[in-house]
Amino acid sequence: MNVNSLFQPFSLKSLHIKNRIVMAPMTRSFSPNGIPGDNVAAYYQRRAAGEVGLILSEGTVIDRPSSSNDQNIPHFHNEALKGWEKVINDVHAAGGSMGPQIWHQGVMGNHHSGWLPPVPFEGPSGIQKAGVTNGKTMTDKDIADAIGAYGKAAADAKRLGFDCVEIHGAHGYLIDQFFYEVTNARTDKYNGKNVAERSLFATEVIKEVRRQVGEDFAVIIRLSQWKSTDYTHKMAKTPEEMGAWLNLLADAGIDIFHCSQRRFWEPEFEGSDLNFAGWAKKLTGKPTITVGSVGLSGEFMAAFAGESSEPSPLDELLRRYDRGDFDLVAVGRPILADPEWVKKIKDGRTTELKGFSKEALAQLI
Ligand SMILES: Cc1cc2nc3c(=O)[nH]c(=O)nc-3n(C[C@H](O)[C@H](O)[C@H](O)COP(=O)(O)O)c2cc1C
Repeated sequence: MNVNSLFQPFSLKSLHIKNRIVMAPMTRSFSPNGIPGDNVAAYYQRRAAGEVGLILSEGTVIDRPSSSNDQNIPHFHNEALKGWEKVINDVHAAGGSMGPQIWHQGVMGNHHSGWLPPVPFEGPSGIQKAGVTNGKTMTDKDIADAIGAYGKAAADAKRLGFDCVEIHGAHGYLIDQFFYEVTNARTDKYNGKNVAERSLFATEVIKEVRRQVGEDFAVIIRLSQWKSTDYTHKMAKTPEEMGAWLNLLADAGIDIFHCSQRRFWEPEFEGSDLNFAGWAKKLTGKPTITVGSVGLSGEFMAAFAGESSEPSPLDELLRRYDRGDFDLVAVGRPILADPEWVKKIKDGRTTELKGFSKEALAQLI
């Protein structure tokens, strides 16, 4: 396994990273009352010292009263920003690069702890999933204020010294609730008959983020076709639909598409082995990040249910990367469980690689 090609630098606007490996954003819920402390800074600094090229933070919520369903998920506003300033300073001191993943959960299921935000969840239509309502329909003012809060978070990311920002537009949270026909039942301009027509909220968020950070700051968006209620779902059913959708987002100001799959090797459309990141790059010409079971035998949703994974070879990933399908490779659980994972890959220490089991979630290793 020759991994040298993954250890080439990558630069785009404000982002200058030493290799192609990205730590995938992973919620850890170790920030009491939304404030990331020294333990969170040390966790990210260990990944920087372990030579992760770009660290994407766990989802960190924007300044809306019901943007989170969990008291221990970090905020990206007000008091919490001091904590994030320490995070980025410590990551830079260890030679790493980092961007926060800015997040609004929209209409979610309640957290198992029973904690609830002070006001009801908000989303395009209050719909959590087919037949289930768990929040309110956003008014025009709610929408404008949420867009402003994304912009403010991005501006704060730049001001604190982060290298880029990632907008969370995937996995059934607020932006994805606008994209998805099941959770978007609006009768106004924020709905439409296909995913491109349901992208107005996303493009307004992206434009505001871009306005706040200027042209030279790298802006990433994370997207997924799959839903946690339907892994096989495709909002864009053809390359044409996908091109119309993604090019709207690119025109609004996206620099890099982070294409979430549970297994990176799964083809996006029949008749080609290209995955989501491969198609996104081909259709937009923008750099893309792939993700999903890189270096592990099993995928992450099954891991939450208790299935363990073993280390697996990177040959298929390298074949696609060396073919030019995508520019960056995000790795989740292996880097959550082992801050040295990247170094071990670089040095060929494959016998030292560990698998993943959900016990790793219990602490910040
Ligand atoms: C504990 C955990 C928390 C996660 N939290 C987030 C999150 O906050 N935002 C996000 O976009 N994806 C999140 N994900 C998904 C990961 O970013 C990644 O896409 C997924 O784990 C697949 O990568 P892997 O197979 O390398 O683990 C999470 C995954 C795990 C395991």
